[in-house]
Amino acid sequence: MSNRRLSLEEAQALSSGSDHYTAYVGPPREYDAMGATQFRLLCTLGLRAHHRLLDFGCGSLRAGRLLIPYLDSDHYFGIEPNPWLIEDGIQNEVGADQVEIKRPRFLHHDDFDCSAFGVDFDYVLAQSIFSHCGPDLIERGLAAFQRSLSPDGLAAVTFIHPEEGQDPAPGEGWVYPESVTHSVSSIHELVYDAGLHSLAIPWYHPRQTWWLLARTPDRLPGRDQLDLLQGAVFASPR
Ligand SMILES: C[S@@+](CC[C@H](N)C(=O)[O-])C[C@H]1O[C@@H](n2cnc3c(N)ncnc32)[C@H](O)[C@@H]1O
Repeated sequence: MSNRRLSLEEAQALSSGSDHYTAYVGPPREYDAMGATQFRLLCTLGLRAHHRLLDFGCGSLRAGRLLIPYLDSDHYFGIEPNPWLIEDGIQNEVGADQVEIKRPRFLHHDDFDCSAFGVDFDYVLAQSIFSHCGPDLIERGLAAFQRSLSPDGLAAVTFIHPEEGQDPAPGEGWVYPESVTHSVSSIHELVYDAGLHSLAIPWYHPRQTWWLLARTPDRLPGRDQLDLLQGAVFASPR
């Protein structure tokens, strides 16, 4: 772990997947914005403090550092197989006091099981997870989300679609830090087979596409809410 103790400034030069908490989860220069856009999306979709949220593959708490203070105590749940990411996220971003006050709960398994917390979730967030999964793991993840979402719950997940004219490269197993691509039709099929309903949404992401998943079609946003998402421009920093 040679880069783990680098300063934030030094870590900016690292490539995605490097062993620093701001770099392992994506380009380090985007660490702040990629947390902010996840938080804003969830609030725009109706997340409020009393909801229970599962941050699946929560990494170094890029979104968690905003979600943990916002949610009521005992309402943030994270699954992350690399404990060092959570440790460094808490040490550098969240702080021990916030952990004591809000009591976020974490598990470190990598088998996609979401049931071990023993609660159903109002929201599941899986940012940049399925963009690194072959269909075998996506199937497992979707089945787990279906089982752990409350009847009125909503999951926000990201996929990468192939460029126009290119074939999908769906990979197999966990592919990291490289990404895989999935066609819209194969995503629909995987989601349908898991007993979920889905909608791709026009929310900002520099490389991926956000999809919402729900157990009933009524829970997915209608035209009005889609307009709201579309209009929420994410300004570039000056
Ligand atoms: C691209 S990072 C995204 C992290 C976080 N969602 C974010 O947006 O900052 C992917 C994360 O998935 C985690 N991961 C890998 N395999 C996993 C599994 N089987 N279950 C849950 N998370 C996993 C990785 O350790 C890594 O932290």
